[in-house]
Amino acid sequence: MEKILGLLKEAGSQIVPLRWDGEEFYLLDQRLLPEREEWLHCATWKDAARGITDMVVRGAPAIGITAAFAVVLALRAALKDHAADFHSFLDSALKEIEWARPTAINLSWAVRRMRHALKDAEKEVVFERALSEAFSIWEEDVRANIEMGRLGGGLLEDGGVLTHCNAGALATGGYGTALGVIRGAVNLGKKITVYADETRPWLQGARLTAWELIKDSINVTLNVDSGAGVLLSSGRVGAVVVGADRIAANGDVANKIGTYTLAVLCKENGVPFYVAAPSSTFDHECLAGDYIPIEQREAREVVECGGRRVAARGVKVFNPVFDITPARLITAIVSEKGVLRPPYDKAISQLPH
Ligand code: MRU
Repeated sequence: MEKILGLLKEAGSQIVPLRWDGEEFYLLDQRLLPEREEWLHCATWKDAARGITDMVVRGAPAIGITAAFAVVLALRAALKDHAADFHSFLDSALKEIEWARPTAINLSWAVRRMRHALKDAEKEVVFERALSEAFSIWEEDVRANIEMGRLGGGLLEDGGVLTHCNAGALATGGYGTALGVIRGAVNLGKKITVYADETRPWLQGARLTAWELIKDSINVTLNVDSGAGVLLSSGRVGAVVVGADRIAANGDVANKIGTYTLAVLCKENGVPFYVAAPSSTFDHECLAGDYIPIEQREAREVVECGGRRVAARGVKVFNPVFDITPARLITAIVSEKGVLRPPYDKAISQLPH
């Protein structure tokens, strides 16, 4: 953990949404931000898996790292209390962790990596091996984000940059993907004004992006989601940069609902549309966006605001929480292995995996 904090300190942003104190795992409860900074203790693997489902932690890479530590906790329980049914207990726990949320590929990617690390390990060393793999996944994510910041920062010019949802430190092991690119541009001395979409219904932009950029003294202005058209057509915004939950082999991108709308607006207004995502977000087995499972969440999230009913009683609700942006609308995809340009099927197939 010290090593990861050291990397982040050097890069200039020390916000982290996860903590392992040597024995126990904690999640910064993102449902309570920005009003309260409280850490949720995950005593069991079920607490960590529930933390993913219930959005205590969110954002594709942060979900992946949490899943890795959930596997560590499941392994601890298996070693302590399940000598007789060790393999079946562990197997069903890992399956449950893997399905805590469906869209972000980082989740199943991390569980697969953990499964591989545990395979054939002797009982005396298996816990240490699992913990070390979970920390590797975390550290690699931070390094990837810092590298994406370095590569992607050069793409942005002085002026307004619009981002959607929260693809920042809070959504990753630290530093962020889209916000990492913005941090990279700021570190290069660019004069950036970030426009943060509110991002209904969870308000990741208003609550989380605004909170972490203010903490890092980066100029941020909040706008309602439906204001993006005005920002893009008026020339106030010179680029849009977003993260991704899964990138198909042809370059189609699943990300927070509303991302597709932004990409269309960018096309209409001649504004570059950038996606920033680490290798762990690429799904080489998924041929196109049509095959990406899209999470549907409860109606309550839409009919209520801040816990108070706002919609007319009896109304039906459409609440898919991600959409697909076709590859043809994307100017470039920034990964830690390089900046990918169309044709994406070719560029993605050449990525080492
Ligand atoms: O529902 P969320 O908050 O988990 O959605 C998060 C996003 O859509 C992010 O943009 C994406 O995970 C990339 S995070 C670096």
